[in-house]
Amino acid sequence: MIRTVIWKNNTVVLIDQNALPLAEVYITCHRYQEVISAIKDLTVRGAPAIGVAAAMAAALGATALPVLPQELFRQKFNKICDEIAQARPTARNLFWALERMRKCLADSIGSGQKKLVQELVAEAQSICAEDIANNRQMGKNGSALIADGDNILTHCNAGALATAGYGTALGVLRAAHEQGKKIHVYVDETRPVLQGARLTAWELKKEKIPATLITDNMAGFLMQQGKIDKIIVGADRITANGDIANKIGTYSLAVLARAHNIPFYVAAPLSTIDTALKTGTAIPIEERSGTEVTSFRKVQTAPAGMKVYNPAFDITPAKFLSAIITEKGILQKPYLQSIRCLMKGQFAR
Ligand code: MRU
Repeated sequence: MIRTVIWKNNTVVLIDQNALPLAEVYITCHRYQEVISAIKDLTVRGAPAIGVAAAMAAALGATALPVLPQELFRQKFNKICDEIAQARPTARNLFWALERMRKCLADSIGSGQKKLVQELVAEAQSICAEDIANNRQMGKNGSALIADGDNILTHCNAGALATAGYGTALGVLRAAHEQGKKIHVYVDETRPVLQGARLTAWELKKEKIPATLITDNMAGFLMQQGKIDKIIVGADRITANGDIANKIGTYSLAVLARAHNIPFYVAAPLSTIDTALKTGTAIPIEERSGTEVTSFRKVQTAPAGMKVYNPAFDITPAKFLSAIITEKGILQKPYLQSIRCLMKGQFAR
């Protein structure tokens, strides 16, 4: 199984997603600041993978602290978490994972620093293991929506690489393939940084799942030609009403899907759901460097000095979704109710 983020001997080992698909390279982070840099520069990316990396960064930070009075340790650890929280703004999983780490600290603060650090490391490892288990369950749940012979379009990379392992949207397709369903996947290349062409295509090839790569601007034509039966994507944040933030270009696909009567599914774990936000308009959208648009892999493709707008995500309103697949089941409209029911106990934060 492809593993993205691994805790190993008090270090965090990451598959370098910027090196893929040309090289399968692993980098070892010894300090939490190195994990922050890896999240920022997309060495590790994808909402659940960012969450797991953030939790491990916090654990790494805790292991490096000197022996301190309890209150000072608490302050220093929370400061490390605050720093990690600045790495990227859109994916809910990053903040969710840090909340779990802070809660772990609060629950175990009285047990002495050595034990406390062990608890924090164990919590980060649990977040990682739970993510893989949740993805497998999500895959099982979602595969019921996939039929033998389906042609399915996906956008960005919501695979093993975007998680601790197995994947969300791609996990659903992986599960359908494992069940022997004959599926074929159309992969959007996903400009500007090509998570589809570089990462999803790499994963599908590795798994021998039949797939065809297209550029983003081809998707509408394929739908018009009747070549797409279903669309499935992941999400970076889902608000209380079911609006989703996902990789830029997702909204266009959802609108096209509606125009062509094609089911549009979202697969995401509960850790992506943010019940504190009522609608998608409240989701902070990351804007990334213009160089992602004006060049590719350091080769300049636009005139020097060209003005660029580079939002990394967009918002797809809930009305365009056919269902939301989670590890706890498939959510149907109205999402305000189905999400409220699912997140019972977590709803009023
Ligand atoms: O900028 P990225 O590569 O981190 O964006 C990732 C996505 O938009 C994914 O589709 C999303 O995180 C869901 S992944 C399970």
